[in-house]
Amino acid sequence: MRMYDIIMKKRNGQTLTEEEINWFIQGYTNGEIPDYQVSALMMAIYFQKMQREETLALTMAMARSGDQLDLSAIHGIKVDKHSTGGVGDKTSLALTPMVAACGIPVAKMSGRGLGHTGGTIDKLESFPGFTTSISTTKFIENVNTIGIAIMGQTADLAPADKKLYALRDVTATVDNMSLIASSIMSKKLAAGADAIVLDVKTGSGAFMKTTEDAFALAREMVRIGTDAGRKTIAVVSDMDQPLGRAVGNALEVKEAIETLRGNGPKDFEELCLTIGAQMLIAGGKAESEEEAREKLVRTIEDGSALHKFAEFVAAQGGDASYVFEPEKLPKAAIVENICADRGGYLSKIICDEVGICSLILGGGRETKESEIDLSVGLVLNKKVGDHVKPGDVLAVMHANDEERFQQAKKRFLEACQITEEEPVKEPFIKGIIRA
Ligand code: URA
Repeated sequence: MRMYDIIMKKRNGQTLTEEEINWFIQGYTNGEIPDYQVSALMMAIYFQKMQREETLALTMAMARSGDQLDLSAIHGIKVDKHSTGGVGDKTSLALTPMVAACGIPVAKMSGRGLGHTGGTIDKLESFPGFTTSISTTKFIENVNTIGIAIMGQTADLAPADKKLYALRDVTATVDNMSLIASSIMSKKLAAGADAIVLDVKTGSGAFMKTTEDAFALAREMVRIGTDAGRKTIAVVSDMDQPLGRAVGNALEVKEAIETLRGNGPKDFEELCLTIGAQMLIAGGKAESEEEAREKLVRTIEDGSALHKFAEFVAAQGGDASYVFEPEKLPKAAIVENICADRGGYLSKIICDEVGICSLILGGGRETKESEIDLSVGLVLNKKVGDHVKPGDVLAVMHANDEERFQQAKKRFLEACQITEEEPVKEPFIKGIIRA
């Protein structure tokens, strides 16, 4: 086989065979095919698109390009959850103990934040001593004994995707539906769960800016998961404003704990119940959404989810006393109200801009090597649709540096639009896609 022929075939709009896809993924992973040829192929795919069977073949080839986790030593149906990423998305923190308290084994691989979006691992490191660098043996042992374990993505999980993603990032070929879907699903399939519930975000803080694109991506990923023999469901949810109220690592941990105590923001609680219900049904722990939601609510009311969270934190070396005394979590030196300079309705909060504010404050990474400040961020006091009077507090900002604070404050105020007209209320859960 020749890479030249594969590039030309795709450039001319023909369908690649499974053998051709396997061959170029293997060759690229081994370093035998140079970046410039793969870049040309990515651009050809970008314009000519891929058929369903090509997308599946690409996903499977990337999933097989490195280690594949064998979770067969874990008892029960393993259900994974994945979010396409957003601002204030602390769902895994609250949701995993809720579903684990209902008997679903949670064996999860999580990532760190990059750019304007946060990552579960960074947030969990707000607990002193907490680590996700655990062996696969310990990972499986913890799932079997306490019901949850979260591990960092191992270097060798879907290495082809790692190389391809880095290449797409610099060749303007990221935003192709088949390439995104196969990238996400290859990692999910390699991570070994029996069932996968996807949280596909849409809006200004998400990767997919329009609801139409988010649904198309959700359908594509559900098709791939189903074709690969895994039960796959996608929830499409709003990311046109931050999820919940808190944005920033320790602040989000605090909000997740408040949610497990029954005092969480409504949109966040609703998302946990919606995704959690799909996980319980997929894992055989509930027959209907109603039954699943009741079981999940009970884990909050009887404190079992909060205790499960503490058990999980302790099992991975963290100080679990912080779960019961969240006021001990890292705190910033500057805590200041950001107030509205006029009255009206808060009609828009440009969501990725809020993520960037957290980044400016030091809560995210500019590069993979940057150190992050766990204590900084902001907590929204008003959400889209709320009426505000001049001087009302829009958000409370947490900072450790005056200059960064002033910069983030200016950017945040510019991201908030206050109008005389009340905005039309959009549904928070846009829909659920099943096979
Ligand atoms: N997230 C991924 O893992 N891959 C993409 O291509 C886009 C988002």
